[in-house]
Amino acid sequence: MRIQQIRLENFRGYARLHWQPDPLINIITGGNAQGKTNLLEAIFFGFTGHSFRTIRDREMIRWGSPFCRVEINFQSGQQENSTVILLTAEGKKQRKLNANAGRVMDPVLLPVVFTPDHLLMIKGSPAVRRRWLDQEVGPLQPGYLTCLRRYQQVLAQRNKLLQGMRVNQRTRQELEPWNQQLAAFGAKIIAWRCRLLAELSPVVREIYGQIGGRDEKAGLLYLSSLPLERTTGETEICKRFMGELSRRYAEEVARGQTLIGPHRDDLGTTINGQDARRFGSQGQQRTLVLALKLAQLELGRRFAGDYPVVLLDDVFYELDQNRRAQLVEHIRRKTQVFVTTSQSAGEDIAGLSGRVITVREHVLHEGG
Ligand SMILES: Nc1ncnc2c1ncn2[C@@H]1O[C@H](COP(=O)(O)OP(=O)(O)OP(=O)(O)O)[C@@H](O)[C@H]1O
Ligand SMILES: [Mg+2]
Repeated sequence: MRIQQIRLENFRGYARLHWQPDPLINIITGGNAQGKTNLLEAIFFGFTGHSFRTIRDREMIRWGSPFCRVEINFQSGQQENSTVILLTAEGKKQRKLNANAGRVMDPVLLPVVFTPDHLLMIKGSPAVRRRWLDQEVGPLQPGYLTCLRRYQQVLAQRNKLLQGMRVNQRTRQELEPWNQQLAAFGAKIIAWRCRLLAELSPVVREIYGQIGGRDEKAGLLYLSSLPLERTTGETEICKRFMGELSRRYAEEVARGQTLIGPHRDDLGTTINGQDARRFGSQGQQRTLVLALKLAQLELGRRFAGDYPVVLLDDVFYELDQNRRAQLVEHIRRKTQVFVTTSQSAGEDIAGLSGRVITVREHVLHEGG
């Protein structure tokens, strides 16, 4: 995918911007608070309809303005497309894809974004990794999000019942239909996650090897709250889920909550067989997250026939020069990339070829 034109109106500090980016590598430099991340955010917002840095949409509207507008013209396959989004200070949002109101992008083709916060995918709590699985990986499987929603509804009902069981005399039988539904939806989610991870895993390993060096091997593991061992078939998972619910009945009633299932599962990452969270260096962890994100890109290609664009915010920080060059080379052959860096242009982007754009007070200047 290639973005040909970006038009912004009243987006953060950008009163107006009309920009035709480089079809391959855009290196966006400039001092702090000049508008680098804001530009990536605008691109992300144009495609997804939300920000990667805030859940309060209105923060994106330029202070004192009644609305903001983002328009992006892009090419995907042989097709020319446009996406427009208008957000008003009252919170109304209008979206158009190729002039069709309300139509949205195929989730597989949404930009892949990496910001320093993504390091939490290694260091943070399991909830961060589940969010990645559910929001970025899962949707590659049609039906995933619907199934997840049903699972969450059943989970909420079942937890309510478990809490009720602590105080009044409800019978174990009342739990039975909820157990069955929980296990059925839960097993599907786990089986899908395992399958997608199995697709991602060799790609992550390959990309990690390219950026981090051949003698470092990255690995992914699905860490389940269920005793799965190596089982990944939905029927077998469902059976084990039911068995485990029955085994842990007393404990669940005592705690008043469902203790097993995909909402308690985690993703483990390793480098040369060691837990990356505990033993990885900052640079290794950063490379690993990048590999996870770039592997998503490959899946986009596999599932939708095209690579989404890549937005890399402050990613060079903590990567040595060799890793930086490898990273840019890796993407160059595939898709368009927008990468920001606040460090002094000379040393930071030495050895990288790409179009350098300097941002000063939300105005773009060609060159370093
Ligand atoms: N709604 C808004 N309206 C106007 N200006 C805004 C708005 N939101 C943020 N800004 C301005 O944008 C600036 C931040 O821009 P941005 O995050 O793009 O900086 P950056 O160039 O990425 O800097 P750094 O190198 O520190 O990451 C803020 O300092 C603020 O002045
Ligand atoms: Mg920034």
